[in-house]
Amino acid sequence: MEPSGPVPLLSGMRNIDLRTDRGSQCNEHECAMSLNLLPGAVPEHVALVHPDGIALRRARTADAEALARAVRESRDHLLPWMPWAANDDSCDPTFQATRLRDGEASWRRGDEFNYLIVDSAAQRVLGACGLMTRRGPRTLEIGYWSHVASAGRGHARTAAAALTAIARRVPGVDEVFIICDAANKRSAAIPHALGYVLRGIAPRLITAPGEAGQEMTWVMAGGG
Ligand SMILES: CC(C)(COP(=O)(O)OP(=O)(O)OC[C@H]1O[C@@H](n2cnc3c(N)ncnc32)[C@H](O)[C@@H]1OP(=O)(O)O)[C@@H](O)C(=O)NCCC(=O)NCCS
Repeated sequence: MEPSGPVPLLSGMRNIDLRTDRGSQCNEHECAMSLNLLPGAVPEHVALVHPDGIALRRARTADAEALARAVRESRDHLLPWMPWAANDDSCDPTFQATRLRDGEASWRRGDEFNYLIVDSAAQRVLGACGLMTRRGPRTLEIGYWSHVASAGRGHARTAAAALTAIARRVPGVDEVFIICDAANKRSAAIPHALGYVLRGIAPRLITAPGEAGQEMTWVMAGGG
């Protein structure tokens, strides 16, 4: 473990302490990814400065039971916005184990970096978030959802702020995106609060019942 110390963050936000272990489970080949990340550029554990003592932890297959429970408890809260929540399997630990295993492979390939938001004392799953390369070269996209019991407590916002800081420090990243449906006001409030700029709103297919079919693209400059 090598603490990296507090990272100066975004205007208007408190600093976030990125005490990390540095991806020690990846070997150099596995971690030499589509973004040419240096090994350990994306940490496996991030302590967040928040009164609830929360943290980000790399999602592992062993988290399947806890993740399935969090989804089950939060189903009604997720259904309007997350297409996968409509699938009963999303509450099934076996299904989640498969997804998490795939996610671990994506992390090693450098395609996606999936985290759980956890209560660092009890290790309860309070939500999930991640960095994804799917929007194209030299970009990272941030996604998130929170447990219904976390709503309005700032967990998702604090997690997104930490992922923004991490993404901006990854060599070769020019832009960081947060993308949400325009009807998802709670989600859009996060990039707005973090200082992202709304680049545009474009029509897209409706994939969940709360959506308006208007995709907002929020952008923050990366470190390049
Ligand atoms: C989108 C979603 C993650 C946002 O959740 P949220 O509860 O609004 O967001 P947060 O938990 O970060 O809460 C932000 C609020 O917490 C408050 N807050 C409380 N303590 C805080 C703290 N220590 N730090 C920061 N904010 C804090 C903020 O002031 C803010 O309140 P406001 O809405 O009155 O401005 C959540 O609604 C969700 O999971 N929705 C379903 C899934 C989804 O839509 N995902 C996104 C798809 S694009």
